[in-house]
Amino acid sequence: MKDFAITNIKNLVGVWEQSPLVPLRRNELADLPQLPNAWITVQDGLIADYGQGKLPNIYNELPHIDAQGGHVMPCFVDSHTHIVYAASREQEFVARTKGETYEEIAANGGGILNSAKRVATASEDELFKSAFERLLLCANQGTGAIEIKSGYGLSTESELKMLRVIKRLKSVSPIPIKATFLGAHAFPMEYKQNQQAYIDIIVNEMLPQIAANNLADYIDVFCDRGFFNIEQTRQILQAGKQYNLKGKIHGNELGLTGGVQAAVAENAISVDHLEYTSDEEINLLANSETIGTMLPSTAFFLGIPYPNARGMINSGAAIALASDFNPGSSPSGRMSFVISLACIKMKMTPAEAINAATINAAFAIEMQESLGTITKGKLGKLIITKPIPSVDYLPYNFGGDIIEKVL
Ligand code: NIG
Ligand code: FE
Repeated sequence: MKDFAITNIKNLVGVWEQSPLVPLRRNELADLPQLPNAWITVQDGLIADYGQGKLPNIYNELPHIDAQGGHVMPCFVDSHTHIVYAASREQEFVARTKGETYEEIAANGGGILNSAKRVATASEDELFKSAFERLLLCANQGTGAIEIKSGYGLSTESELKMLRVIKRLKSVSPIPIKATFLGAHAFPMEYKQNQQAYIDIIVNEMLPQIAANNLADYIDVFCDRGFFNIEQTRQILQAGKQYNLKGKIHGNELGLTGGVQAAVAENAISVDHLEYTSDEEINLLANSETIGTMLPSTAFFLGIPYPNARGMINSGAAIALASDFNPGSSPSGRMSFVISLACIKMKMTPAEAINAATINAAFAIEMQESLGTITKGKLGKLIITKPIPSVDYLPYNFGGDIIEKVL
């Protein structure tokens, strides 16, 4: 639906006449402006007008949606996912219930390498079909834009296959998609003893073809213990810059392993995970433009520590929240649960968590001009909630289903 009016809104949430020009930091992150007793119009798919009280007569011709006292807010932006994969990994989940750790499973050829084996033999059509279903699931749960990574290919052929699937998803998706090349997700078994040879393939084989076919918007590296070290990470991000791909990093998930240092040194757009940070990492991040993206459903699912969100916010770092939807460490793209975890486990306020999952997350995939706030001219991607007393009810009602409709 490209033209409509929503009436009878209890609170219009995240209303900014001018959208923030930079990510919200410190106290600003708690600033979630709301307009009570409101209406909003969308024309040609864009937010056209909004106000309080009765819908003005000039908009009577528009199809009306009665919010019935629900809240209306901007859709979530999920800036970090891996939704293209061939098979679930519940066997590893069972192994973890019996005491094996995520790192042990990965070191024994499970984890990312397990997914890579399955992607290698899957057809492009199969991958597309299952990823499209996950995409629709996310969209129905309130996600209005999504980033999708490759990284279960780990060979030139399979990485390109994954990125072509993402490109095809872009052409049919109801929501905007950003594609990230994550060839540096893990070292394939046969390169564990000769890591530079795999990096050479990423740099000399994968990247030129990806650029030539316009298959990626960003480049990502898993910089962590047992994966890529700081020097390797920086080399790969620098190679990406030659093709105008901005960097993102998976970092500090398994320890204080230099992900933040590498991200800040390379001016990465975001460094994601951050379950382990010391004062040094937090200060570095706070004094940089790099966004710290936290993925609390991963900490929840793996039973690892939650990121120090309060430390980051208080020091002035720009932070965002995302789902990390993937088969190994977060088999869910439910952003409302991510927001609940951020409040319950990371002591973020509901307003902070909602901003981190909307406008700040939009900055993390450079979509801040079209998503993340209720601002005229932005995309009319909106969530209508069931009648709830206040927007704080969204994280309070964890795991619940308070989304009435997604537009
Ligand atoms: O973001 N940490 C690295 N990569 C993914 C997990 C990948 C997997 O286990 O399949 C993540 O958690
Ligand atoms: Fe991830």
